[in-house]
Amino acid sequence: MSKLILRAKGIHRAYGTGHAEVKVLRGATLEASEAEFLVIMGASGCGKSTLLHVLGALDAPDRGTVEFRGENIFDLPPAVRGRYRNRDVGFVFQFYHLLPELNVLENVVIPRLVTHSFWSWRSIRRESRKEAAALLDRMGLADRAKHRPNQLSGGEKQRVAIARALINKPTLLLADEPTGNLDEKTGGDILKLLVELNVAGQTIIMVTHDAKVASLAHRRVHLSEGVIRETVNQDGARAHSAPTITKVAL
Ligand SMILES: Nc1ncnc2c1ncn2[C@@H]1O[C@H](COP(=O)(O)OP(=O)(O)O)[C@@H](O)[C@H]1O
Ligand SMILES: [Mg+2]
Repeated sequence: MSKLILRAKGIHRAYGTGHAEVKVLRGATLEASEAEFLVIMGASGCGKSTLLHVLGALDAPDRGTVEFRGENIFDLPPAVRGRYRNRDVGFVFQFYHLLPELNVLENVVIPRLVTHSFWSWRSIRRESRKEAAALLDRMGLADRAKHRPNQLSGGEKQRVAIARALINKPTLLLADEPTGNLDEKTGGDILKLLVELNVAGQTIIMVTHDAKVASLAHRRVHLSEGVIRETVNQDGARAHSAPTITKVAL
């Protein structure tokens, strides 16, 4: 039995107030175990991004708890919660969210910068850049390090975003429709990369409205009417028809 790392219980989140209030999450409950590839499915607008943001502490719920290794992250002092957001979690978004004025390598290094003061940053700068370069190499982007995001294709941008999400070696990778903006072939390559990361031990929670994309997960759950309905547990066997997954040393 693998170790539980995340447990979200009774998550409620509404937007707006009074007559304009929209109750998006109404008691969503969810668990993720170490090395699991969990997919949260649901129709567009059902609250998948809202839920993922709460899981990653980018947003706070109105009610409910998110326990990371047994501790409710919303009970933690803001600075400690910030560390969770920055170090324990890596985020990949549908629209990449790269900083256009920085080059690719600098974009990947940013989460490292956030965790250090100016003076300690000076001492780890070289090492961090080296690690970022190694990650870019692993993503097949070694020759793009000095490029600006707007010089890259969508698939390349998403690879940069994945490298950025991995720079602090997060326990949990949260991916919000990471292929939603890509053509089928490019999206397939990104999914293959995520599966490779997972095979190497990375815990991943991915959100998608696309059943085909969801089919590569270990476990799929459905979000509808603000709650999670458990669906398919594939007993660890992936039922995807993705390209042959080769085990890679990551
Ligand atoms: N910041 C916000 N303010 C008001 N309404 C929002 C906000 N973010 C999302 N919503 C609404 O909440 C619902 C769920 O949004 P979202 O979590 O983005 O859904 P999904 O990711 O499943 O498409 C939608 O109806 C959306 O319009
Ligand atoms: Mg969304």
